[in-house]
Amino acid sequence: MKDNILVIGGTGKTGRRVAAGLEALGHEVRIGARSAEPSFDWDDPTTFAPALRGMDKAYIVYYPDLAVPGAKEAITTLTETALKEGVEKVVLLSGKGEKEAEACEEIVAHSGLRYTLVRASWFNQNFSESFLLEPILAGHVALPMPNAEIPFVDANDIAEVAVQALTDDQYDGQTLEVTGPRKLTFKQIVETVAAATGRDIQYQPISLDDYKVVMKNAGLPDDYVWLFTYLFSEVLGNADNQVVTNDVEKVLGRKAIDFQEFARKTAATGLWDQPVGQPL
Ligand SMILES: NC(=O)c1ccc[n+]([C@@H]2O[C@H](COP(=O)([O-])OP(=O)(O)OC[C@H]3O[C@@H](n4cnc5c(N)ncnc54)[C@H](OP(=O)(O)O)[C@@H]3O)[C@@H](O)[C@H]2O)c1
Repeated sequence: MKDNILVIGGTGKTGRRVAAGLEALGHEVRIGARSAEPSFDWDDPTTFAPALRGMDKAYIVYYPDLAVPGAKEAITTLTETALKEGVEKVVLLSGKGEKEAEACEEIVAHSGLRYTLVRASWFNQNFSESFLLEPILAGHVALPMPNAEIPFVDANDIAEVAVQALTDDQYDGQTLEVTGPRKLTFKQIVETVAAATGRDIQYQPISLDDYKVVMKNAGLPDDYVWLFTYLFSEVLGNADNQVVTNDVEKVLGRKAIDFQEFARKTAATGLWDQPVGQPL
């Protein structure tokens, strides 16, 4: 059966891929984003009902993170509105090892909607489509938590798992923990990107306090500095997060994408080439 599916965050790293995967299966996709029509804005609950109206299912990506103040209230209002609008099933993107996100997962699980929770590890695409692209281009990646071993997961795998969860009832009520196939430190990640690009890119371990200063000097607002400090210390430092799972393989019937493969493909696009004017 073909469904009408709202993909919140549908222009972002996972949502864009979820939307493409659903459309390829013949489903009708509506993008949920401030830039979409009708506009959907997490900061304006009056936009929830128009976006959910007529939808059978929804992929929920909260922005910027389920751990921030206000997320619980927004997820409560969204799920209540979804129920009123006749939505049947939702898939929530959550963070693996994020204790603060679990309250939002509970809200979805008790919403009365059919649901699947997809808990993801840190994404490979943070280095190609997000805040870690700039340091890679600069050839100097200074980050805290040098000893954290992170099972980076590919956004393509997250999206494929989310599409399965949205289209196959067997995942109803389940929590799928999606990681890559092995754990890597930031130093190993930077070395892998350097090898894939043939560029000299250095990793510099710094303290969390120094990283906070870097973020403040870069003009990031206090709530972002708080969020990144939380993600580095509580999430990457959490032993629960430093575990490889095989849920990607269980759902997709193939191995999860390795960071090396992601790095090889991304390097081939030229995205990580030395920017013009950048000193060697
Ligand atoms: N990055 C990681 O390593 C990681 C790991 C685990 C979990 N997560 C979770 O993944 C989620 C982010 O997913 P993603 O990386 O796929 O998204 P993303 O790439 O950060 O994209 C953000 C999307 O949200 C929309 N958006 C931004 N602000 C919005 C607002 N106020 N209201 C409505 N839409 C808004 C954007 O479109 P517009 O700008 O047009 O509104 C865009 O479609 C977060 O909840 C995060 O906790 C991330």
